[in-house]
Amino acid sequence: MKHVQVKNIKEVIPVNKPLKGTIEVPADKSISHRAAIFGALTGNKVSITNFSSGADCKSTLLVLEQLGINVEYISDNNIIISGEGFKEPKEVLYAGNSGTTTRLMTGILAGSDFYSVITGDDSLRSRPMARVINPLKTMGAKIFARENSTKAPITIIGSKLTGISYNSPIASAQIKSAILLAGMSADGMTSVTEPFISRDHTERLLKYLDADISVNKNTVSIKKCKLTPKNITIPGDISSAAFFLVAGAIIPDSEITVKNVGLNPTRTGIIDILKKMGAEITILNERQECGEEIGDIKICYSDLKGTTIDSEIIPRLIDELPVIAVAATQANGITIVKGAQDLRHKECDRIKAVYNELTKLGADIQETDDGFIIHGKTKLKGKTMLECYHDHRIAMSGYIAGMLADSPVQINEFNWVNISFPEFTSTMESLLK
Ligand code: S3P
Repeated sequence: MKHVQVKNIKEVIPVNKPLKGTIEVPADKSISHRAAIFGALTGNKVSITNFSSGADCKSTLLVLEQLGINVEYISDNNIIISGEGFKEPKEVLYAGNSGTTTRLMTGILAGSDFYSVITGDDSLRSRPMARVINPLKTMGAKIFARENSTKAPITIIGSKLTGISYNSPIASAQIKSAILLAGMSADGMTSVTEPFISRDHTERLLKYLDADISVNKNTVSIKKCKLTPKNITIPGDISSAAFFLVAGAIIPDSEITVKNVGLNPTRTGIIDILKKMGAEITILNERQECGEEIGDIKICYSDLKGTTIDSEIIPRLIDELPVIAVAATQANGITIVKGAQDLRHKECDRIKAVYNELTKLGADIQETDDGFIIHGKTKLKGKTMLECYHDHRIAMSGYIAGMLADSPVQINEFNWVNISFPEFTSTMESLLK
């Protein structure tokens, strides 16, 4: 399906005053996908409070509807999922821009009793899928895909699966989740071991819904099981909060509180790194909801210093690296990011995108195979047009950088922000009032 792009250029005016106030960000994208998918897997009725407003999670809902699941909107962010299990879809399943939808659903469809095809937009069809297809095939799945079984569209002929012990070469929650979800319908036990622990929302939510799942260090194991329908509440997305945390840390005299943010330790690398760079961050009102930590994050402007970010922490901040790069341009000294080669396989090649766009703004940045090296602090230059590469996080990172430039910056196709954060601009403006 060809993406029809309406011309959409956003002008970012440099800020001349601090950001002050309290905000909320949309619900966590990763948990929203899982809440909807696992809710549908219960074969019953599940109500989800604070579902993400982003287009990616809507893609998951559309795919579920194509599979015969009912989605009822109670209000903008409150939905009810119901149905009696998945049915063979009459059409090709369309996952839009969402890698999580595609990879998690491929795991489930591999063990379902029917034929299906899943695809998405240009960006999704260029992303690596062998990382889930190959392990699923060793479980007995019948899966075919373009370019020698590496790219969507993916064709799945549901079959009887057998559990495996899979040693994943990459720390990826999407790979881990696809295999565990296939394991829920497989004979015997399915285990996944990762080099470093990736986000564990699948494990936590499946446990909350009474799945037969256990975790031992970097290994997660699951057996054939049924899920109990329970209502789910979703915390705010720390990956969306990250743009405001960085803005608060680098725009002089700012003081921002982001309320009700997910603080799952597999996601809080951004807090650890900003603190290591010298940011003043306080966590308030910490509590637990549906197996996830949640709280408020307060950040105040500080003089930042460069740091080194390497392999072990990368899975805990993989999506935040583009905006961390913006912070690094405003930190004194060198920031080195290494071991982040998977950044090249996100919605776009994020290493190249960050390098290209920060270079346009006059940053001192060097691209490496698995990351980048940034020398700060640099006064960024405006009067340039930034590109988004069809990538919501590149769009928002460009916006934060633009706020610090010496003159206005334009961002082409800024509407890609809608993938995870349609309210981004109005939330930012509320801090400038
Ligand atoms: C996600 C996992 C991460 C992350 C993506 C969402 C998830 O991808 O980058 O935005 O919801 O499981 P990988 O699992 O490919 O690292």
